[in-house]
Amino acid sequence: MKFRSVKGTKDILPPESYLWQRTEETIRSVMHNFNYREIRTPAFEETSLFARSIGELTDIVGKEMYTFTDRSGTSLTLKPEMTAAVVRAYIQNNLGEQSSLVKVYYLSPMFRQERPQAGRLRQFHQYGAEAIGGEGFSVDADVIALAVAVLEGAGISDYRVRVNSVGCGKCRPAYREELRAFFRPELDRLSEESRERYEQNVMRILDSKNDTDRELSIGAPLMKDHLCGECAAHFTGLRETLKLLGIDAEVDGTIVRGLDYYTKTAFEITSADLGSQDALVGGGRYDLLVAELGGKSTPAVGFAAGLERLLMVMEKQAPREAPALSPGIFIAAADEPGRKRALIKTMEARRGGIRAETDYLGRSLKSQMREADRQNALFSIVIGKKEVESGKGVLKNMQSGEEIPVTLDSLVAEVQKRTGGA
Ligand code: HAM
Repeated sequence: MKFRSVKGTKDILPPESYLWQRTEETIRSVMHNFNYREIRTPAFEETSLFARSIGELTDIVGKEMYTFTDRSGTSLTLKPEMTAAVVRAYIQNNLGEQSSLVKVYYLSPMFRQERPQAGRLRQFHQYGAEAIGGEGFSVDADVIALAVAVLEGAGISDYRVRVNSVGCGKCRPAYREELRAFFRPELDRLSEESRERYEQNVMRILDSKNDTDRELSIGAPLMKDHLCGECAAHFTGLRETLKLLGIDAEVDGTIVRGLDYYTKTAFEITSADLGSQDALVGGGRYDLLVAELGGKSTPAVGFAAGLERLLMVMEKQAPREAPALSPGIFIAAADEPGRKRALIKTMEARRGGIRAETDYLGRSLKSQMREADRQNALFSIVIGKKEVESGKGVLKNMQSGEEIPVTLDSLVAEVQKRTGGA
């Protein structure tokens, strides 16, 4: 039987894995400069955490979660997103007592059983950030500026920032009624999914990809035009602050987001280089979630982005090479006595901060040298009985062909000197 990776999952192989590492370093460094600190949470949580926060009626909770019952009968779910887990950790560890504005970031695999396609996987990776404790629009602007700074740091310049306000508990109920009234005469023409949403979460009809739904949505009332005074002031303040920061954001009244916890700000950053799954970044404010999950009422805002999607856009707009390997040395063995010494020297070089390799397969000297080439070693040396007895050998620069007589005792120091190693 031949095993294959599970549908919708992907191996990240070298050298691509090095490209991932480099990109992850870019993300971490930008997060660090914005003063967000890393949080890591478990791969799975109690199912009810996600059901409660993301919303029972959302696609994620309704049909995409990897849920299983463990041997003790507890229902667990592989995390489909991080916000719920971060808020759970914030409450459980009393993070609010340490600081009144807690700023954390993450970079982690997520799991959703969606239909796989370009840019949509079942195990994917998100980087994101959450700022918990600030109610002012300047925190929303900080989060959006951070999302933008990561893109810029990755060399991406062609993207669209779209912002909206989805209101709050005060202004949303009346707006929902108005939206229902708008769709009521056309209810029969809406797609089956939108008919369900009409009852359960009418705003999401605006999010439908179905052509007829889209047509029927033209002229629909938008939340942004029905905000209460507080939400309207927040939205205006955010737009002004973004302008101040030089971030070009369009208002898009149709952004509703597929997760239920949002209040006031909702935003997306899209890229034309992504095809149909064009959302690179998604986020917004969730002022009710901390209290909903049992904590003290605390406003919060955050975003998350798909790392695979970021890499796809980078490939189009700012292709990067996988970083070059450090110079390295291949220590070849000419015979049995040489083999033992080669092994010891290899370990010494590694401890000395040098990428070092030797032969483990009993290969001929010729094929060892071919291997040295394949490994992109800058240096090589052959150790045999003669070198062991004399304590001397010849270090060869594989690029220039230069041959440098060395003692075996000074081998590591000589390579360090020439490679700037430790
Ligand atoms: P989301 O919109 O569900 O939001 O996901 C954010 C981003 O994750 C998407 O824009 C996309 O780049 C990536 N993504 C989502 N699903 C997949 C998939 N199946 N394959 C590849 N990439 C995917 C959230 O997850 C919220 N927690 C964001 C947030 C944080 N809101 C506030 N704080």
